Amino acid sequence: MKFIAILVIFGLGSVFASEDAFEASYKLTKENRDKFKLGRMLFFDKILSGNKNISCATCHNPLTFTGDAISLSVGEGGKGLGTTRNTGTVKERVPRNAPALFNLGGPEFTSLFHDGRVEINEDFPSEIKSPAGMDLPQGLNGTLAAQALFPITSGTEMAGDKGENPVADAVAEGRIVKAWNLLVNRLRNIPEYVEIFKAAYSPDVREARDINIVHVANAIAVFQAKGFYMLNAPFDQYFYGNKESVSKSAQKGGDLFKGKAKCISCHSGQLQTDHKFYAIAMPPIGPGKGDGEKGYDDFGRERVTGDIKDRYKFRTPSLRNVAVTGPWGHNGAYGSLRDVVLHHINPEKMLKNYTIEKSYLPTRADLDRKDLRALKDKKIIEGLLKANELPQVVLSNTEIDDLINFLHCMTDYAVYDLHRIVPKKVPSGISLAD
Ligand code: HEC
Ligand code: HEC
Repeated sequence: MKFIAILVIFGLGSVFASEDAFEASYKLTKENRDKFKLGRMLFFDKILSGNKNISCATCHNPLTFTGDAISLSVGEGGKGLGTTRNTGTVKERVPRNAPALFNLGGPEFTSLFHDGRVEINEDFPSEIKSPAGMDLPQGLNGTLAAQALFPITSGTEMAGDKGENPVADAVAEGRIVKAWNLLVNRLRNIPEYVEIFKAAYSPDVREARDINIVHVANAIAVFQAKGFYMLNAPFDQYFYGNKESVSKSAQKGGDLFKGKAKCISCHSGQLQTDHKFYAIAMPPIGPGKGDGEKGYDDFGRERVTGDIKDRYKFRTPSLRNVAVTGPWGHNGAYGSLRDVVLHHINPEKMLKNYTIEKSYLPTRADLDRKDLRALKDKKIIEGLLKANELPQVVLSNTEIDDLINFLHCMTDYAVYDLHRIVPKKVPSGISLAD
């Protein structure tokens, strides 16, 4: 009996010890440690979705490198994860690709989303411009925190359809603050959450009613910023002087990236992005964002600025871990890294010869019909080619191989350990599976 008791105590002890070691491995400050813990729970907890059936991690899963491994996300109403996710009862795919979340905590990310619609702007009291149609609550810790406010109030992503639950109803009526409050109330009613909020936000949060949506968003931001920070790829080691860390071919690829291939004119700096917006004629797949005469186009940056010169422009993505974060492009048009690189070299040919098989979409006839409308529209294709800003580049097949080998050197091997960040359970008790 005694022996069993010792075993039990020992066993439990080691579980907690490994959790502590896990958190210690993120080298968090005392201030951030509890916010990280809280944000980690919220990121994986379906309690933040209207019908309690989808979390941030459904579309940004660590097991699929913080994306969802499909071209266009399947939101609220779908089932399963990654490439096995089925379209369930969804009425439309999410019109854009779920991007990877690496290194987004850096202050240089002054805008987020493919079109930069959440951005730093000091003209607003919250200092953040967003699509909310009102000023955001104050106290948000940058763009990453502000961004977290939006998936939870999107009907297709997390809230659900009118009539299904009170959060979805509030969203459908345009009452976003009410939707946030309904979600916060759910958290206030779970004692385990109240305790973690108190630890993370002492002395501001003394009891359940002190918890607000800004606390939720800031904690999720800390979790993403710390949990998905990765800047130790062979590329970095090479940069810091370890010439052995990348192959000769990748070294040639790096020279091409900076030189003849002109990649660096947009993918510049330590994260390979200038954070600006360009039109590069990605094949237009997906249901679109309601733009254009027929409503199935996606005007990209123009949607934010209202300036026709910004039509079809999207934010230059960081290329950190890019080899593992496919499908690629703002709508996941390309399911292979080689194809998205070839697209940069010959956009016209790649666009004209594009077929949907190049993407990765779980098929369903009614959704597929919507996804192909823009691609079949000659006016849209002409518009995309006219707007294209990619420089003319000619590369041999060997040079393309070199360039791709160079992109592989952006992979920080820590990306293969991300499964450790998935918690075993969350305070709501809702299953993490599906
Ligand atoms: C249904 C799938 C889905 C869910 C659920 C979801 N996201 Fe996303 N996420 C996306 C898509 C798609 C985009 C790109 C949208 C766009 O740019 O228009 C995106 C964009 C983002 C970005 C911007 C990244 C960048 O580089 O600009 C962040 C950060 C993010 N999501 C975090 C979250 C968090 C935090 C949650 C939970 C509160 C969440 N997402 C829930 C699909 C999802
Ligand atoms: C004119 C600016 C520009 C140049 C030059 C450029 N890119 Fe891009 N690149 C972009 C933009 C903008 C996107 C995103 C487009 C979209 O999603 O529609 C992108 C997307 C990508 C992607 C997909 C990333 C992802 O996460 O989906 C890869 C890979 C890439 N570029 C590699 C390259 C390489 C290699 C070169 C050089 C041959 C290059 N780029 C040159 C602007 C540029």
